[in-house]
Amino acid sequence: MAGAEFEFSDQDFQRVRRIINQVAGISLADGKRELVYSRLSRRLRQRGFRRFEDYCDFLETSGDETELSEFVNALTTNLTSFFRESHHFEFLAKELLPGLIRSRGLNNRRIRIWSAGCSTGEEPYSIAIVLREVLPATGWDVKILATDLDSNVLATAERGVYEWNRVKDLSEPRLRRWFQKGRNAQAGWVRVAPALRDLITFRQLNLMDDWPMRGPFDLIFCRNVVIYFDKPTQQILFERYADILAERGHLFVGHSESLFKVTERFAPLGKTIYQRCL
Ligand SMILES: C[S@@+](CC[C@H](N)C(=O)[O-])C[C@H]1O[C@@H](n2cnc3c(N)ncnc32)[C@H](O)[C@@H]1O
Repeated sequence: MAGAEFEFSDQDFQRVRRIINQVAGISLADGKRELVYSRLSRRLRQRGFRRFEDYCDFLETSGDETELSEFVNALTTNLTSFFRESHHFEFLAKELLPGLIRSRGLNNRRIRIWSAGCSTGEEPYSIAIVLREVLPATGWDVKILATDLDSNVLATAERGVYEWNRVKDLSEPRLRRWFQKGRNAQAGWVRVAPALRDLITFRQLNLMDDWPMRGPFDLIFCRNVVIYFDKPTQQILFERYADILAERGHLFVGHSESLFKVTERFAPLGKTIYQRCL
């Protein structure tokens, strides 16, 4: 790029693509060159590098885990919102949870949910709202595990404090019940209610690594995450989801994601919802 602040060759772009793919499974498309330049420029500036080649050398040889994590954080896409793809939450509230309430006996009132790639937390908090609204107040042992690879978004998720703009479209009763409005210096911000926060454990986890939890999970939300992975990586991941899901457990994927020709371990229920086959 003529006149650019940092030297960035085609070879450097290929190298960045290789590193992010090795570390996070993310496949950057050909057209992402400019995005890579703009997102990583800040890192080069902060670390005092003039050329991407030197920055990549540093990433690959220094063993500096903090910089590797900043590199990954800069390249992940974290777009999310409360009740994104609202049909999933309607299905959860109107079909899935009522079915579980009917079918589970007194000694099997345990529900485990994993929000994999939870970004800034809107997804697990939306799940928590539905659980609190639909399940009886007592007698159920319910937990949500929310994980992401990006340490920055996870910190926001754990804080559970959002700009008013991000919740303004929720219904008035939901806003009143599940969010505390900030005052004075915190005006314009909301904090999620402790009753939601209590249901969720946040953990940093790279989906490409070994998973420390044993499961089984009843539900896995992995939405708008595998869209950035290539097919072989998706295949491995969905096999692992099938293994860690309970029999007949449910998997929710994003609107442009599909398991068609990726795995046969799930049956489609429609609207990007799948059920593990026996
Ligand atoms: C677009 S957001 C999706 C957020 C939410 N699930 C939703 O649908 O609104 C994708 C998230 O996946 C995370 N991610 C990408 N690669 C990952 C990996 N290898 N392991 C864990 N999380 C990853 C990113 O950090 C990002 O926060």
